[in-house]
Parts: sequence; structure tokens; C-alpha cells
Amino acid sequence: MTTELEAHLGLDLRNDDPVAGPRSAIDVGCPFHADRARVQQSERKTLVLTGASRGIGHATGKLFSEAGWRVISCARQAFDGGRCPWESGADNHVQADLSNHRLLPRAIAEVKERLAGAPLHALINNAGVSPKTPNGTRLTSLTTSIETWMSVFHVNLVAPILLAQGLFYELKAASGSVVNVTSIAGSRVHPFAGSAYATSKAALACLTREMAHDYAPHGIRVNAIAPGEIKTDILSPDTEARLVTNIPLRRVGTPEEVAKVIFFLCSDAASYVTGTEVPINGGQHL
Ligand SMILES: NC(=O)c1ccc[n+]([C@@H]2O[C@H](COP(=O)([O-])OP(=O)(O)OC[C@H]3O[C@@H](n4cnc5c(N)ncnc54)[C@H](OP(=O)(O)O)[C@@H]3O)[C@@H](O)[C@H]2O)c1
Repeated sequence: MTTELEAHLGLDLRNDDPVAGPRSAIDVGCPFHADRARVQQSERKTLVLTGASRGIGHATGKLFSEAGWRVISCARQAFDGGRCPWESGADNHVQADLSNHRLLPRAIAEVKERLAGAPLHALINNAGVSPKTPNGTRLTSLTTSIETWMSVFHVNLVAPILLAQGLFYELKAASGSVVNVTSIAGSRVHPFAGSAYATSKAALACLTREMAHDYAPHGIRVNAIAPGEIKTDILSPDTEARLVTNIPLRRVGTPEEVAKVIFFLCSDAASYVTGTEVPINGGQHL
């Protein structure tokens, strides 16, 4: 029996059949399976994932873990084994506040300690903040304080730059892949997302192009995904009611649907894909 997630993915992420023996990539003829087979045959792949505690990050950690990857997670809170059911667990969790760039060298050093010289196959810069006014409306370019501009840019833009720089050699050793999580708000004014958030995501999309260009000669691919309205804590309470009529697929997305695209970008199926920003929004950008 395949799990619900596997059915969604069109994948079978289970271990090899104990009776029939190992499932080879050729047997199943699918690039995702080929990727998984390689994980099993050679070293286990490792992922560094920011914002793993909730929402899109949580679904991403779960998916990669089910596919056999080791997940090194990074969030402000301590590891919560009840909420994050992947086996890499607390030993692979780095507690770090990404809103202060001065704390980043410590966080990077802790990630390196966890890696202990092992190659890094993927870095997912997913953590993000989208502050609103106390009554939930958007903070505009007229009403956003300098403190908010700085903290939003630190989490959403500066942390991805520094993490990728700091883990460059580990990524290079694995011919690894970076995925930056941008947003539909980076390319249009959004009814709930504020100006600092939108400009930080636009900058992150631009950074993705720059990094893809700079990292490619070292064998590292850099891509972005731009979610639209995904059902997580970051959404405003009114989002679904107000925006669904503007979404051609007539519904908000799920964190699992985003995780699957991130997984694709980090797999061998995307080995010639770099410098792109994939919209995941049910057609909202149309
Ligand atoms: N949901 C959407 O509709 C949507 C749309 C477009 C883009 N996105 C982007 O998708 C990404 C994930 O968002 P989400 O919807 O899953 O949001 P979420 O449920 O609010 O989760 C945000 C994650 O970021 C982490 N985080 C926030 N501030 C942090 C900090 N200072 N240091 C370290 N970690 C921090 C949080 O960890 P802790 O609070 O536990 O520390 C949490 O794990 C974000 O980059 C967001 O901008 C989401």
C-alpha cells in the first residue's frame, strides 16, 4: 500500500521489498526513483532546511525525510519531536534566530559541526516573515518602521545569502542545490503582504539569478519557488475568502504541494535546471 503522500507524488518511497529484494531505478523507470536509489546506493543525502518548524518547511522536512534524506533543521524554537516526526530529530536541529546577521556565523558553525565534513546536497532557504499591522492589514511603504524593514530583510534575504556563502564548500562537494522560497508578492502588490516583505522577496528572486550565475561553475544549482496562497500560519485570516475567486484553480494550495516542487528541484530530475523561479499558485499569476 502506498501512503497518501506517495499517491500524491506518484512515488513509492517505501523501503525495498523484503521478499522481492531491492527496487532498482531501472525497475521503476522514474527519475525520482533513480534519485532515491542513488541515496540508498551511495551516501545518504543531507539537507539544511530553515523554518522547518511549521508550514511549508515542516512539509518539506517530512517529505525529504520520507525519501531517505537526513534533515538538518534550523528554526528559532528548540526541536519539537511531537510536531516534527522525522528521524534526524533533535541531534540535527540548530536553534537560530535568522533576524540578526551577527548570529549567523554561530548557526553556520553549528551546521558544519553537524555535517562533520560530509557533503551537503541541498540548502532550502524557507524561513520567512511577513509582519502586518496589529489589526492584520498590510504595512505599506509609508507605514513600515525601519526596525521592521531591517528584520524582514535579515530573515528573508540576508540569511539566505550568508547560509549559502557559509556552506559553499559543503554544497560544492555534493554538486548540491539551493532553493530560495520567494513569493507571488515579489512581483505584484498583494492585498495582505506588506512592502518590506514584497521587496525582500523580489530581491530574493534577483539574488537567485545572481547566485545561479555565480555558483554554476562550481556545479551548484540555485533555483527559487514562488508560492501564491498556501494554507499556513503566514496567511491572513481573510485570505481564503477574499482571494480564492482570483485563483484559476479556485482553492489555496497546501504545504505538501509546495514541498513536492522543492523536492523536484533538489532531485536529479532537475539536474539541468538552474536560475529559475517556479510559481506554485494555482494560476494566480495569470
Ligand atoms: N504560505 C504562503 O501562502 C506563502 C506564500 C508565499 C511565500 N511564502 C513563503 O514560504 C516560506 C514559508 O512560509 P510558511 O507559509 O510556511 O510560514 P510559517 O508557517 O509562518 O512558517 C515560517 C517559518 O519561518 C521560521 N522563522 C520565522 N522567523 C524566523 C527567524 N527570525 N529565525 C528563524 N526562523 C524563523 C518559523 O520558525 P519559528 O517561528 O518556529 O522560529 C517557521 O518555521 C516563507 O519564506 C514565506 O515567505 C509563503
